[in-house]
Amino acid sequence: MRTALTELVGVRHPIVQTGMGWVAGPRLVSAAANAGALGVLASATMTVDELRAAVREVRSRTDAPFGVNLRADAGDARERVRIVVEEGVRVASFALAPSRGLIAELKDAGVVVIPSVGARRHAEKVAAWGADAVLVQGGEGGGHTGEVATSVLLPQVVDAVGIPVVAAGGFHDGRGLVAALSYGAAGIAMGTRFLLTSDSTVPDAVKARYLAATVNDVLVTTAVDGLPHRMLRTEMVAALEGAGRVRALAQAVRRAAGFRRLSGMSWAEMVRDGLAMRGGGHGGGGRRGGGHGGGGRRGGGRGRRLSWSQVLLAANTPMLLRASMVEGRTDLGVMASGQVAGVIEDLPSCEELVARIMSEAAHVLRTLPPA
Ligand SMILES: Cc1cc2nc3c(=O)[nH]c(=O)nc-3n(C[C@H](O)[C@H](O)[C@H](O)COP(=O)(O)O)c2cc1C
Repeated sequence: MRTALTELVGVRHPIVQTGMGWVAGPRLVSAAANAGALGVLASATMTVDELRAAVREVRSRTDAPFGVNLRADAGDARERVRIVVEEGVRVASFALAPSRGLIAELKDAGVVVIPSVGARRHAEKVAAWGADAVLVQGGEGGGHTGEVATSVLLPQVVDAVGIPVVAAGGFHDGRGLVAALSYGAAGIAMGTRFLLTSDSTVPDAVKARYLAATVNDVLVTTAVDGLPHRMLRTEMVAALEGAGRVRALAQAVRRAAGFRRLSGMSWAEMVRDGLAMRGGGHGGGGRRGGGHGGGGRRGGGRGRRLSWSQVLLAANTPMLLRASMVEGRTDLGVMASGQVAGVIEDLPSCEELVARIMSEAAHVLRTLPPA
């Protein structure tokens, strides 16, 4: 199936495996790429050196094009962009809208720029700044998310911009791919579905929690970092929601210290990131300490300023996500998830998943009633 997305990035199928902090590492990305999808490395939870090593590892496992997900507002964003350029990465994806300058720098070097947005006006802005395509995530999507459902947001963005739109939030099968194409999208992007593959390195106990979830077991909470964040409903989330302010802050500071050690960030950098988030920026001021260990806010940019305590809480997120995604602690961590976890019941390989979606899509297209 050829669409504006397959043409733009040179993949076989109009499917993107999104950058998920601690989840989208070289193994998952290369498996997705070898399956003919666009695999995207999540780099915000990596140091600069780890990013370069991860890119090289993907390259050693596949000849197919792939992408890197970056935080536009990270203090070392330029250094990371240089790595993307030097290593010949095909696509730069952004958790938040990158600046006009960053887009130009990447495009001059031949890198395809695809920012993620959660609202029409952000899509319009990045399109005006020269982005090659835009990934739009509806409210049912995993991680930081907005309120507007994909079925409403997607056609709204398609109507607003003249560049290819990739649909995210709630996709897992071939029907969804055809539906997205019908809305005018150039393809679909999936996070939760790729997390739940045999190629994902997420520990089995954690995958089992996702598989057991019903659609009602996935909630949006602001208790983790003050921003709407979609995740599995667990006792840990209930505890965070019930924790008194002082206790929550004390825990947040401890976890922030842990992330500082892992990320190699200085306290000064973390404070600067916190301030960037506090300012709200373009409906988004993102941060490394926040997001999904990298994501940004997708709430449609109400421009809400965060309090200092929320800035501190935000530093929790990468550590909480890591506890589950890397260490397998279902009791301690948070498990960011799309609602779609409630309808996913198996762990195919990326190869099986992508082949299945494409054959389902072909079947749906054949069985649509004639016009
Ligand atoms: C565990 C997890 C971690 C995520 N981390 C990031 C991230 O670091 N950066 C980002 O831009 N989006 C992140 N996201 C959002 C996904 O990239 C994607 O947009 C979303 O999962 C799409 O919705 P779906 O889960 O319904 O497919 C994360 C999502 C999940 C489930």
